Amino acid sequence: MLVSARSFAEYRAMFGLTDRDLNCGRRILDCPAGAASFVTEAGLRGIDAVAVDREYAVHREELGRLVERETRFKRERLARETADFARSWYTDADDLIRQWSANAQLFRADIAARPDRYVAAALPELPFTDGSFDLVLSSHLVFSYGNRLGEEFQRAALLELARVARWEVRIFPVVVYDTGERYRGLGRLREELADDGIGSRVEQVAYEFQPGGDEMLVLTCAGYRAPARSPSRAGAVDPVRWRHRESTGEGFGAA
Ligand SMILES: C[S@@+](CC[C@H](N)C(=O)[O-])C[C@H]1O[C@@H](n2cnc3c(N)ncnc32)[C@H](O)[C@@H]1O
Repeated sequence: MLVSARSFAEYRAMFGLTDRDLNCGRRILDCPAGAASFVTEAGLRGIDAVAVDREYAVHREELGRLVERETRFKRERLARETADFARSWYTDADDLIRQWSANAQLFRADIAARPDRYVAAALPELPFTDGSFDLVLSSHLVFSYGNRLGEEFQRAALLELARVARWEVRIFPVVVYDTGERYRGLGRLREELADDGIGSRVEQVAYEFQPGGDEMLVLTCAGYRAPARSPSRAGAVDPVRWRHRESTGEGFGAA
């Protein structure tokens, strides 16, 4: 799994965020945030946003630098994989590396300056009380890695994101990274969520990373009352491997 570092402008586009959505009175959760600069840039705009990622338990300030090194290390693979991403946000792999490096640098400064804004936790279990946030944003995990994570994890993760959201959860994209196809179990998951009182819709947005991957799933959470929490739910899966560290013999301690 790649730890990425998208920007506030990308988050605005991929989650279709309006000025009203970003109203300064709203609390926003970004999970998983990786080394994205959304929370950093939101903070500069006076928006009350919090980042969560499993990697913050292992790497904090260091994460931004790791992401910069790792994306450079994987340049050839990224160039190959993104060759047909013609309408994407990035002109080519070098542009992606340049943008992610700039965003990761912003992240690195902010996690050092405002550590309380960056919470180490792993879906499907978040250390927040019910309805802690107005809006929850989740990019490039739940469906992107859907084939590896499995439906049990996805259902638990979506319910957990909905538990901490008072208003909406937005998940982008709904395509699987490996295949570029819409996640096959999406319809079934939406039906199950509806049974739990969580409404959903799929919306097109003005952003795509992979060709055709320009849709987000929106969960409406106002009618959802989460059952009492079970302490036995599974923790993190599919850990990040920092391959540039393995190849150079540099020690690595990723979860
Ligand atoms: C591709 S990155 C996306 C980061 C950011 N949203 C973006 O678009 O730039 C995926 C992130 O998911 C995190 N992750 C993977 N499994 C997780 C879990 N169970 N709970 C929380 N974070 C997780 C990884 O550490 C990684 O930073």
